[in-house]
Amino acid sequence: MSREQIVLTREELDLQQEYAQRVRQIYRDRLPRQPLACVTTFGCQQNEADSELIRGMLIDMGFGLTDDERRADLLIFNTCAIREHAEMRVFGNVGQTSHYKKENPDLVICVCGCMPQQPQVADKIKQSYPYVDIVFGTHALWQFPRLLYRRLTEKKRVFDISGDQQGRILEGIRPVRKEGPAAWLSIMYGCNNFCSYCIVPYVRGRERSRDPQVILRELKELVDEGYRDITLLGQNVNSYGLDREDYPDFAGLLELCNNVPGDFRIRFMTSHPKDATPRLFETMARCEKVCHAIHLPVQCGSDRVLREMNRRYDVKRYLELVDYARKCMPDLTITSDIIVGFPGETEEEFRETLELLERVRFDSLFTFIYSRREGTRAASMPDPVSRQEKQRWFDRLLQVQNRISREKNAEYVGRTVEVLVDGVSEDPDFDLTGRTRGFKLVHLRGGRELIGRTVEAEITRSSTVALFGKVKA
Ligand code: 5AD
Ligand code: SF4
Repeated sequence: MSREQIVLTREELDLQQEYAQRVRQIYRDRLPRQPLACVTTFGCQQNEADSELIRGMLIDMGFGLTDDERRADLLIFNTCAIREHAEMRVFGNVGQTSHYKKENPDLVICVCGCMPQQPQVADKIKQSYPYVDIVFGTHALWQFPRLLYRRLTEKKRVFDISGDQQGRILEGIRPVRKEGPAAWLSIMYGCNNFCSYCIVPYVRGRERSRDPQVILRELKELVDEGYRDITLLGQNVNSYGLDREDYPDFAGLLELCNNVPGDFRIRFMTSHPKDATPRLFETMARCEKVCHAIHLPVQCGSDRVLREMNRRYDVKRYLELVDYARKCMPDLTITSDIIVGFPGETEEEFRETLELLERVRFDSLFTFIYSRREGTRAASMPDPVSRQEKQRWFDRLLQVQNRISREKNAEYVGRTVEVLVDGVSEDPDFDLTGRTRGFKLVHLRGGRELIGRTVEAEITRSSTVALFGKVKA
């Protein structure tokens, strides 16, 4: 059954536009120059994409953008709540800003995103960070112009963390994207999975898919604007369309995207193994624009822990998926996420994760030590293993994976690969960076005119994290 979806209406957008114009006028009256805003983003690609929308709204409000916090009239911290470490970094950064405020009392400081969507965090900001002016959660993102207008006119701090968990679908706000040939394209928002360790479903609300026609229109615009590497984005892209009877499923959407004319690559993230289907891999193999790369978080290698995590697959099913995916695409690169030290995980269970790594041989991994998140189911599970022990497991895991990544990258030496050049290399021996279709980082020698172009490159050297090579004439 199709659930009713709430897309932003024209009236709501018009109202925000009106607030944007008023903000513009206020700054015109107050400042002899264009006001500047600095957006700092923490966390995942979804947050990056949200920051692109924030930048779009800022331009509407007459702001210029800067990366220099000291020059800014408005500081925005778009925050991440996934682990405690991310939150501590945000508090550290926000803490710094009290100095700026002393120098410039008119500075407006804003904290938004996933952190303040949790009521206890919003309270903490209210109590302990009195110089923060505006606080809003992910659900109020589109109301940013109204919230800023209120702050500028009411002389009170503004808090909006109202969260209808159903959430809205943001349409009609034009993002300001980062430079380079790559772009994010959100296809859905939210997550329904409630993995027992994870805060995301609480701060991002339920899954809601964007209209495929809107996605396709945006994709065509991106291609027309010259973007060459487009990542379809969602917390859990494999369940795209499952909330709507009249939408295609994810494999269907990929096929539609592949049919858009132009010279570009398509990739997507993140995939949940429970919803990955054989048809998805067959579709990836068949669609020439879809890169043979998948980020398929497994989290751990123990069936008992997977059950406790509420992941809804076991190791056997995961391995079957990987084997079938590789059968469809022998050149597939597979990356994954691993959590070590989930509450109650034993040494033996941790070793099963190492075994899984040896069996699958991921190209690379994102590895995390479990972080307790207030309000999640795992937060109330007994967690007897010490932090030091978890750190030791973590180090062992990295050692194993680093060796595998090094070995996998070494297989590329001597091969010629297609690289989309995307920027300037920081390695003094090289000029450019780029990505293979499998999303491997490549350092290259060559002229800057190649940025944004696809080249054939011969790989001459490799490391744990990158390939090195030269452009073929
Ligand atoms: N602790 C550690 N890692 C976590 N992740 C999500 N929640 C937590 C947590 N509480 C990891 C998962 C997920 C990735 C985005 O972050 O591996 O796939
Ligand atoms: Fe978190 Fe699981 Fe949803 Fe990923 S799928 S965002 S880990 S709850």
